[in-house]
Amino acid sequence: MNVFGVDIGGSGIKGAPVDLDRGDLAEPRHKVLTPQPATPSDVAGCVAEVVAHFGWSGPVGVTFPGVVTGSTIRTAANVDKGWIDVDAAVLLGERLGGLPVTVLNDADAAGVAEMTHGAGRGRTGTVLMLTFGTGIGSALFVDGRLVPNTELGHLELNGKEAEKHASTKAKEDKDLDWQEWAHRVRAYLAHLEMLFSPELFIVGGGVSRKAEKFLPLIDGIRAEVVPAQLQNNAGIVGAAMAAAGRR
Ligand code: BGC
Repeated sequence: MNVFGVDIGGSGIKGAPVDLDRGDLAEPRHKVLTPQPATPSDVAGCVAEVVAHFGWSGPVGVTFPGVVTGSTIRTAANVDKGWIDVDAAVLLGERLGGLPVTVLNDADAAGVAEMTHGAGRGRTGTVLMLTFGTGIGSALFVDGRLVPNTELGHLELNGKEAEKHASTKAKEDKDLDWQEWAHRVRAYLAHLEMLFSPELFIVGGGVSRKAEKFLPLIDGIRAEVVPAQLQNNAGIVGAAMAAAGRR
């Protein structure tokens, strides 16, 4: 069965029909640049463009980089603040001509996909998926069940929000080399380990493609630390899974 997934990110809005049984894209994804500022109306237009590209009609799952309760956006740390209190399923549903829309946090979506089809497959106990990008997203699983909207990127680390210190944006903005950045990620994981004692950390986001450059530099963490396997498509796959009620 195929369901459509869309991933709203800080730089791109990408989507594709997803083959839920394989946990992979059924067709190559289509991407448009995220409008700046990323207002609700302009982003909704982009989502509609991505869906229309495939002539899709059916359920659509959409990720959002902020807290989502029900389908209402509650926070917008790295996107236009005009999203706060918007019912995204209503807004997007209208722009998609009445298609049913499910909305969830981006890291939660990526985590759901990884737990079923990627690095977390079959894993029980406490698992923490982290996505490193413009911010840091988190998805907490206990025996495979998601605890949504954990927002652990906003924990304080060295007197700063963790995502300001250890995201890949922080790496780029401060021109940190892999060693310097891995040192920050290690401190962050150690802090999370103190709080949650997970069995497994799954490290996702675009940077997971370069896992060999920084994961070997992260030592002293008791939990297993592994790269995400679905990488860039995890959000799209997880969004489609959520729309199909598989989360
Ligand atoms: C947001 C999270 C999001 C993460 C990754 C954070 O700034 O608060 O909701 O999951 O960025 O996009």
